[in-house]
Amino acid sequence: MKISATLRTDRLRPGAVLSGVFSGEEKNGANAFQDKAVKNFVLGLAKARRFSGKENGLFFTGVPGEAKNGILISGLGEKKKFSADKLRKLGSALYSKLNDLKFENASVELDTLTGNKVSSPEAAAALVEGIRLREYRFDHYKSKDDKNGKQDTLKEIILAISDRKVLEAVSKELGMAEVVVESANFTRRLGDEPANVMTARRLADDARKMARETGLRCRILDEKQIRALKMGGLLSVAQGSKEPPRFIILEHRGAAGQPVVLVGKGICFDSGGISLKPAGGMDLMRYDMCGGAAVIGILRAAAKLKLKQHVVGLVPACENLPSETPQRPGDIQRTLSGKTVEVLNTDAEGRLILCDALTYAHRYKPRVIIDLATLTGACVATFGDVCMGMMGNDAGLLKMIQKAGYETGEKCWELPLWEEYGEMVKSPVADLKNIGGKYAGTITAGKFLEAFVDDFPWCHLDIAGVAWRESPAYYAKSGATGAGVRLIVRYLRNLAKHS
Ligand code: BES
Ligand code: ZN
Ligand code: ZN
Repeated sequence: MKISATLRTDRLRPGAVLSGVFSGEEKNGANAFQDKAVKNFVLGLAKARRFSGKENGLFFTGVPGEAKNGILISGLGEKKKFSADKLRKLGSALYSKLNDLKFENASVELDTLTGNKVSSPEAAAALVEGIRLREYRFDHYKSKDDKNGKQDTLKEIILAISDRKVLEAVSKELGMAEVVVESANFTRRLGDEPANVMTARRLADDARKMARETGLRCRILDEKQIRALKMGGLLSVAQGSKEPPRFIILEHRGAAGQPVVLVGKGICFDSGGISLKPAGGMDLMRYDMCGGAAVIGILRAAAKLKLKQHVVGLVPACENLPSETPQRPGDIQRTLSGKTVEVLNTDAEGRLILCDALTYAHRYKPRVIIDLATLTGACVATFGDVCMGMMGNDAGLLKMIQKAGYETGEKCWELPLWEEYGEMVKSPVADLKNIGGKYAGTITAGKFLEAFVDDFPWCHLDIAGVAWRESPAYYAKSGATGAGVRLIVRYLRNLAKHS
């Protein structure tokens, strides 16, 4: 489906036309329509209170005398509470409504969707994100005549804008938003593939293929190289599976200087290992590589947007299984850093592979390190699917991530890394143990990682609650959400503005 921006005309465009109205401004709903007859028609509907400016109402009506046309009016709620995120939700609702109504063409009166600091370019970007996130499907394993739901009919959406200058700015932002959301959907696909397909080798192959297409540098370390490096954490988790591990390195050199290094947890399946998880819901642990998938998607976007930033992505990838050769509870491992870890629970495997990647990140003398990981069930218990857990050692960095979170709707909330929590991951026989006590599981996991980051500015994002959904909500369907991609790309763009 095509989405483009164009100057608005007096004629009613073919297909459905969307206009937004704020609460209390219902009569303005007619102003979006130049055609006199249509304008009067909509005014009549407003006076009869057939639609309202209250949020979430997507009102549809045919147009008298124009059998192939339709009008959609979206209630935007109070103007002073209007936000880009509401437009993402609207984009998503609009896309499904237009397909339900079997339209092939639609246009959006973009001027009616701005206000309360949401500019036209921002409005366009948010709308496009909502539309594309809803358009995404993961149904290629289904036979043609058995696809989930109906086939989508929509072929084109036009964003109509009255001002030529504004149109230019909108077109530019629209193009960027398309790349970013396409990258988020790329990440979702990696996450949605089942674990028998999306192995560490396959993840590496897909990353390499994407790198070739986008001009990223790519290096994949195989098991032998990982062993030669002495990444004891990654190897200890991988040793229970016949599937060999991979260490994926992607690099976008959009500028000279120290890079932002991104690290993503790439556990292709997390059974828990010998500390086996219960059967119920274990299938969801195919999503345990979503942090890694996000890093790959972010690098894709950085390359395609030609961001003037030096960005490196590191993804340790393997599978956590019990077998004849698994890691046992009580084993002590020497990590790449030289620090030793007592593995008291083989299900706390994410930190074991991440610590080696964090140590590896030091080679780049990073300006900033950000890791993304579906790390703890405790984070899901704390934040549900509403926000990510955020921890780190640099207030300025965390502030910037949180700001990007509000801008993209990918919210982050800080948890403290106080000393007391550090005591909980000290081991009597090794430098660290891989589990804390009964409580504060998200923070003790963060504390464990912190031991591997020296003094570099670092931010840890626990995306366990937001990386996938079990049921559709807002603009995310069920399945992988691409969490972190829009967030970190926004952070990188904001960073470029600041430096
Ligand atoms: N991948 C899981 C965390 C997870 C759980 C993500 C549920 C999303 C939903 C992680 O490897 C894990 O198993 N963590 C353990 C740690 C514990 C053993 C200290 C957990 O959270 O239970
Ligand atoms: Zn686990
Ligand atoms: Zn895990």
